[in-house]
Amino acid sequence: MKRLAVVGAGRMAHIRTQAFLETQRVMLCGVAARRLSSAQAFAYQYGCDTCFDEFRRLSSCAPDVVLVETPHLVQEDVVRWALETGAHVLIGGSPANSAGEARRIAERAAAQGSIVEAGYEARYKAVWESARRRLHSGEIGTLIAVRAVALFAADPASWYYDQTNSGGMPLTHMTYAFLNPLRGLLGHPLHVSAFANRKKHTGPGLVREETCVAGLLFPDEVLCTLTAGYVRSGPADEDAAWQVIFLGTGGELHVFPSDEGPGSLQVHSGGKVTQEVFTGDKPFLAQAQCFLDAIDGTGSCRNAPAEFVADVMIAEAVAASAASHRTIAIGLP
Ligand SMILES: NC(=O)c1ccc[n+]([C@@H]2O[C@H](COP(=O)([O-])OP(=O)(O)OC[C@H]3O[C@@H](n4cnc5c(N)ncnc54)[C@H](OP(=O)(O)O)[C@@H]3O)[C@@H](O)[C@H]2O)c1
Repeated sequence: MKRLAVVGAGRMAHIRTQAFLETQRVMLCGVAARRLSSAQAFAYQYGCDTCFDEFRRLSSCAPDVVLVETPHLVQEDVVRWALETGAHVLIGGSPANSAGEARRIAERAAAQGSIVEAGYEARYKAVWESARRRLHSGEIGTLIAVRAVALFAADPASWYYDQTNSGGMPLTHMTYAFLNPLRGLLGHPLHVSAFANRKKHTGPGLVREETCVAGLLFPDEVLCTLTAGYVRSGPADEDAAWQVIFLGTGGELHVFPSDEGPGSLQVHSGGKVTQEVFTGDKPFLAQAQCFLDAIDGTGSCRNAPAEFVADVMIAEAVAASAASHRTIAIGLP
């Protein structure tokens, strides 16, 4: 049994702690949050009574694994501390607020043999795995273009909307939806040209790119537009606000990855539509299992450091392009 310490006690901390406990390969040894009451309420649910309002005090629990589920500004300190304790670290979202810091995390982890994984669970999701198989099998012919939409109704009072606390919408949201899984399918993008605006919540300190349209050029001249942002209104039709359409020379693949559900896809080819639904998929459990396998040396993670450095680099390029109205060449990580 590995000793798991959790920093943060919000929505994602619950989801990933439950996934870790479901593996039956960890025991919860301590929880820290900004407020002690929050850490206590969280820990109580999982039968743990070691709680702090200062994450460094979790060192006294001697964790093997630290799960980091905090706003991104504080996350960098938490990850540095977790690596200093010698622990393996699963970072719930983007690994760092800058590519430079992501590289430092990667170097530190490599030097001491710690596993570090970023929390993008899409690469563990059956819907994306099926999309990969179908694209590679040539079911829709040669890939021409991709059109993606990822709209999430963020709370303007939350840290997600705060530029400093989140690191910005491209880093917090676009990396996850859908730069990370698209890179897994299409490779490393070569150029980005992006535009962004702010229309709904525009107060001081709020995210610069509330809504962003990024045009990306992937290898083999695959063209992609990704519209992503924090404004989502109208009917609660998740598929319309959260979809990726692949256009091929012989058909289309429509992927509805779903933010919280299992997702589905459709293949439109030769006048026929084939549908696949992924009921029962458990991507957070699969990711937790892979992470623990990597620690044991029996497997490997899908968002290992070289991958997550690339995700942050691309988010930076998207923001830089939107700010400067220039096309930016994205170097390899
Ligand atoms: N599917 C996905 O993979 C996915 C989806 C959404 C978000 N995310 C990522 O998940 C992570 C967590 O997001 P969330 O939505 O769960 O956030 P959240 O619900 O707002 O929770 C944040 C938690 O961080 C704690 N916290 C804040 N400052 C702290 C500090 N200095 N020390 C210790 N704890 C501190 C807060 O403590 P209090 O409770 O005391 O305030 C709170 O419990 C982020 O990295 C986000 O990008 C991933």
